[in-house]
Amino acid sequence: MARQIKIFDTTLRDGEQSPGCSMNLQAKLTVADGLAALGVDIIEAGFAICSPGDFQSVQAIARHVKGVTVASLARAMEKDIDAAWEAVRDAESPRIHTFLATSPIHMEYKLKKTPEQVFEQAVKMVAYARNICGDVEFSLEDASRSDPAFMYRIIEGVIKAGASTVNIPDTVGYSVPNEFADIIRGIKANVPNIDKAVISVHCHNDLGLGVANSLAAAMAGADQIECTVNGIGERAGNAALEEIVMNLHTRAEYYGMTTRVDTTQIYQASKRVMKATGVRSQPNKAIVGENAFAHEAGIHQHGVLANRATYEIMTPESIGLPHNKMVLGKHSGRHAFEERLSYLGHRFDEATLDSFFEEFKILADKKKTVSDRDIDALVSGHSGGIPEAFKLDRFVVNSGNSITSTSVVRLVLKDGSKVEKVAIGDGPVDASLNAVDKIIGGAEIKLEDFSLQIVDAIDTGADAQGESHVRITREGRSWNGSGVSTDIVESVIKAYLVAVNTMTFELEQERNRGA
Ligand code: KIV
Ligand code: ZN
Repeated sequence: MARQIKIFDTTLRDGEQSPGCSMNLQAKLTVADGLAALGVDIIEAGFAICSPGDFQSVQAIARHVKGVTVASLARAMEKDIDAAWEAVRDAESPRIHTFLATSPIHMEYKLKKTPEQVFEQAVKMVAYARNICGDVEFSLEDASRSDPAFMYRIIEGVIKAGASTVNIPDTVGYSVPNEFADIIRGIKANVPNIDKAVISVHCHNDLGLGVANSLAAAMAGADQIECTVNGIGERAGNAALEEIVMNLHTRAEYYGMTTRVDTTQIYQASKRVMKATGVRSQPNKAIVGENAFAHEAGIHQHGVLANRATYEIMTPESIGLPHNKMVLGKHSGRHAFEERLSYLGHRFDEATLDSFFEEFKILADKKKTVSDRDIDALVSGHSGGIPEAFKLDRFVVNSGNSITSTSVVRLVLKDGSKVEKVAIGDGPVDASLNAVDKIIGGAEIKLEDFSLQIVDAIDTGADAQGESHVRITREGRSWNGSGVSTDIVESVIKAYLVAVNTMTFELEQERNRGA
């Protein structure tokens, strides 16, 4: 029988740690729902001690998701472990994931500790965590550059102290598949009590080998793989979940291993992560890139039409990307509409869903078919349950290559009043955001990142749409927003307002809590 590999997803912790990938609470809950639907075994929801925001989101996820273990990261220190436990204790199945570096370079320069001190701290802190929580994972940070004999000793010690999972990270993405597999074989052969724990691996992608190293380790006996959706993560990222799962699925006869993951949920999970972070995968990214299933060359198209297996080793349907995109129309029911929203990566409460369904019915009456883009546009500007402190009412831009751009923007405020301001700027987008800033008092807000994609809906016959993603920062914190419209300036204003509304809501909540 195929051996079942546990999938430990760290999109919300290691993934979120990467530059530009920070997510707000609502976005994290949306991603967590997508991961639960995917069927991962463990969700690492964050690093609870890091900040009050991190603690709050780990706790919210732990209380919200069902049928999956929820972990928080903690350094091997009592205060970290206490915070991690407080954050995950309400989960159906809580885990504390504690770590300490074991490589000579990390011990000497980062920890400034001797190997003996590291051994003692690791064992003591695992015992401390195990006293509080029945499920403790210990990671030997920078394991792939650690002395094997020292590693065996620590692993034996932490298992004796109660660790039920030991994680072997290739923290700096330095290892190569055969070598990494040998490390796992070495652990299996030299740690006497290794049968009492699950061996996990956690590979970074600095040399582009994150997935290959993880799979080689699994072949050598590791039973858990740590990975992230779309491969997001520190520097070059982590091993990509979708690539690991689809390798094991597509080449099942070779690997002889399986996972609990429902592969048909991969596409929605990937979209959720892109939406939540505002970070798009490269078009040629395996499994989830826009071109992953596109056959451009005539000879390939011909082959695929004759027999899909000529050039297609897996079907788009197997990751939840239907060949013939389902279109909705006026006869579509609420259930189909809700499913489509979920597939497109949106998550709303019942009341919001009801009001969007009403709007959808009106739109479907006007148009024969309602495309994915129309649905995105319908819900864009909505910040996923976050109250709209500012809403776009109208705007007018005057722009050209020989004049200074001017924009007049009118926003609706929370109390229903309307405020209009005019501003100039370097182009229509800059002028419009300057006008918005004048209304919202946004002098301290910095537009950190802005991307615009023109989506040409050839297959649906709809007008081309602009899809904007922005990241704003204020006092070192950042918030994302996205917006869709047939008018590109409008799509940016909408995206900006989503980010501003999220920021306003979160800061207001923190003030109310007295944080
Ligand atoms: O890369 C790494 O070593 C980590 C550990 C904290 C598990 O992320
Ligand atoms: Zn990592």
